[in-house]
Amino acid sequence: MTAAARFEGGPDSAGGTVESHRVTTVSTLVVPAGGLGTRFLPATKALPKEMVPVGDRPAIQWGLEEAVASGIRRAVVVTAPGKDLIRAHFAPDPVLEEILERRGSPELARRVRAITELCDLEFVEQAEPLGLGHAVLCARDRLEGEAAAAVLLPDDLFDGSPPLLAQLVEAHTWEGCTVLALRRCPQETISRYGVAAVTGEGPVFTVTDVVEKPTPEEAPSDLAIMGRYVLTAEVFEALGSVTPGAGGEIQLTDAIGAVARAGRVVGVEFVGRLLDVGTLDSWLATNAAIVWQDPELGPALRERIRELEQGG
Ligand code: UTP
Repeated sequence: MTAAARFEGGPDSAGGTVESHRVTTVSTLVVPAGGLGTRFLPATKALPKEMVPVGDRPAIQWGLEEAVASGIRRAVVVTAPGKDLIRAHFAPDPVLEEILERRGSPELARRVRAITELCDLEFVEQAEPLGLGHAVLCARDRLEGEAAAAVLLPDDLFDGSPPLLAQLVEAHTWEGCTVLALRRCPQETISRYGVAAVTGEGPVFTVTDVVEKPTPEEAPSDLAIMGRYVLTAEVFEALGSVTPGAGGEIQLTDAIGAVARAGRVVGVEFVGRLLDVGTLDSWLATNAAIVWQDPELGPALRERIRELEQGG
């Protein structure tokens, strides 16, 4: 039976036969946020890339809200020296709340408080930016006893339903293995991503290998690996023995590849869209996309764009 057939037998399918068992679930999220954000300099010199605003909140808050909407209640954020603003954003600020209440803005005070109550948050520090794999490894001590953890890269916002992490957790619940988020990608841009070699029909594929940033000719498929994962303890173990590459970086793809070649990784071609905020142009486009669909801000943005087009 293919991975897809097993997944479609899950509780969300219309009348499908349940053929496999719920084996495990995911309660902790790891958020790597220790990178340098060099592609968005100079904006990200002092402001962490994960803190750039999208609509009315920083990118990382969108990510944590996606996790909470996916049933995850605890998050370990991997930060770096000098990125204290991330911690500050999620810390209680009773003085600000009191001022807002006093000035007649109880709703705003409630929203400020809600940020601090989103989920149980812990922070670990990545002393040096030694790559995504290294950042994920920095969280390993906080995952004792957990069979698997979710990982979310906060520079990609998800827009759609159900939440992307929920789609991956659902697949993990039925498959019991590591799960990747896959998106079809045109040839011209495939070399920006890790790419999965797969078997099966989808939307849940068996991943047989992964190739980091291949040329279009080398790409084993058009399925790019995007910034959401459910990683089993086996991937964390494999990470511990990955040989660092150029610059001492530890690649997450190397550890996932080892587990994929052993036959224990699936990939979900998810529904919904991912919006990037890692560069100036992608951040501008993502803000436009988010504000465009806002019932209050959308019409105002469209009106302003019309004015700009007319030279105003
Ligand atoms: P990116 O490669 O997109 O982020 O990593 P970056 O390295 O900060 O940005 P550029 O390429 O220099 O512009 C995706 C996620 O992984 C984290 C980043 O903070 C980002 O959320 N990351 C990356 C780490 O936590 N540690 C690292 O060493 C590298």
